[in-house]
Amino acid sequence: MASDLPPAYTALTRHEMMPRTRHDEAARFNFLTHFNRYLSGTVGKGNKLAYENRVLPQFRAEHGRDPEHRYEIRDAMNKDDWHRVWSALKRNSMEMRQHFGRQVVLRQLDELDAMARQYNEQSGMLELDPSVEQPHYQTAVDIHCQPGGYHTEERPGDVTVGANYDVGLFATTGGALGGLNDGGGQAVVEWVKKERPDWQPRRILDIGATVGHNAVPIAQAFPDTEVIAIDTAAASLRYGAARAAAMGVRNITFVQASGEDLSRWADGYFDWVQTTMFLHELSSKAMPRLLAEANRVLAPGGLIFHIEQPQYSEEMPLFEQFMRDWDAFNNNEPFWSAMHGQDLKQVMADAGFPRESQFTAGVRAVVDPEIFPPSPDDGEEDFGRAAIWNAYGAWKPAADPAAAA
Ligand SMILES: C[S@@+](CC[C@H](N)C(=O)[O-])C[C@H]1O[C@@H](n2cnc3c(N)ncnc32)[C@H](O)[C@@H]1O
Repeated sequence: MASDLPPAYTALTRHEMMPRTRHDEAARFNFLTHFNRYLSGTVGKGNKLAYENRVLPQFRAEHGRDPEHRYEIRDAMNKDDWHRVWSALKRNSMEMRQHFGRQVVLRQLDELDAMARQYNEQSGMLELDPSVEQPHYQTAVDIHCQPGGYHTEERPGDVTVGANYDVGLFATTGGALGGLNDGGGQAVVEWVKKERPDWQPRRILDIGATVGHNAVPIAQAFPDTEVIAIDTAAASLRYGAARAAAMGVRNITFVQASGEDLSRWADGYFDWVQTTMFLHELSSKAMPRLLAEANRVLAPGGLIFHIEQPQYSEEMPLFEQFMRDWDAFNNNEPFWSAMHGQDLKQVMADAGFPRESQFTAGVRAVVDPEIFPPSPDDGEEDFGRAAIWNAYGAWKPAADPAAAA
C-alpha cells in the first residue's frame, strides 16, 4: 500500500520567534501531524464506504429517494457509528493540537513576549489601534477550537495566540503548507507572476493576515512594494510583525484594522487586495461590507484575489459538500457552510466588481518538493484537506479604457 506519511515535524523551518520545542514536544507534534494526516487521508476514505454501503441504502429504504441536500446526508451519517468515531477522533486531534501548542507557548511566554516587543520596537513594523473592536463573529466561539480565538490576550503585550498558531499549524495541516506554512502565499506569487510577469504593484493590502504566513512571501517576492497586513487581533499581529522582522523582511507593516472599515486609506490607494483562507470566517453581514470597502481602496486596473476552498455548486456531489462541511459543525467554523453555499460571484458583483472582470483559478500550495514530496493521494479528492484551493478574483476595470488598452 502507498505510504500516507507527511513530512516529520522537524521539517518545520525555524526562525527566531518560533516557540522552542523540546525533544518530547517535537515528538508529540510529530505524532499529531501524522495522526491528522492519517485520519484525513487513509482512514477518512472509510466515510465514503460507510455512506455507499450502509447510509445511502438505509436512506433510500426510509425515504424512497436520494438525499436532496448536504444536511440530509449529515443527519443520516451522524447516526452511523463508524462516521461518529472518525468524527470524534478528528475533533480530538484538533483539541489536542490546540491545547498542546498553547502549553508549549505558555511555558516560554515571558521570553516570547519580550522578544516580540524588542523586534517590534526596533523595526517599527507594527501599528496597533486599541479602538478597533473585535467583531462578534470572531469572539462568539473559539474559531477552530483555538483557545481564545485569534484575539485573546493573556496580559498586555501578549503573543500567545499568534505563537500557538505558528508552532502548531504544521500539525493541523499535516505539513501540507511547507516549512514556513507559507505554501498559499507562495502559490499566489507564482500565479500573479505568471499572469502579469512585469507587474510591479506599488501597494498591497492583505486583509485578515493573522501572523502573516501568506503575506510575508508576497512581500518577499515584491521587495520594492509596500505591503500592509491588517487584522483585528493585536495578539496575532504582534507575533506576525516580530516574525517578519526576525525573518529579515522590512517592506511589510502589520496594522490593527478591520476590513469592514478601511477609512484610513484613500480611494484607490492599493494596487492589489489579497485575502487568504479568510472569507469563510466572515458573517454574511460582514462579507458585503468588507468587499465594498476592498473595492473602494482598490485602484482602477488593480487586482483583488481571494484564496479559498471551492464554493458548493450544483456540479459538486452532495456527499462532497457534506464532507467539506465537517468543520462547520465539528470544528467551530460557524460561517463555513453558509459562506461556501453562497454565489460568491454575485456577492462580488454586488460589491462593485462587474462579473466580466471576475475570474476563478485553481491554486496549489507551493512547497519544497525535496522536503515535502507529493502525497500518494494527490489528485484524489480529500474534501478540503489538501492544500489545493480555488482562487476567486477580479481585475478592477481601469477608469480610462484607453489607458487599459
Ligand atoms: C483564517 S485566519 C486567516 C489566515 C491568514 N490570512 C493566513 O494566510 O495565514 C482569519 C483571520 O482574520 C482575522 N479577522 C477576522 N475578521 C476580520 C476583519 N473584519 N478584519 C480584519 N481581520 C479580521 C482574524 O483575527 C484572523 O486572524
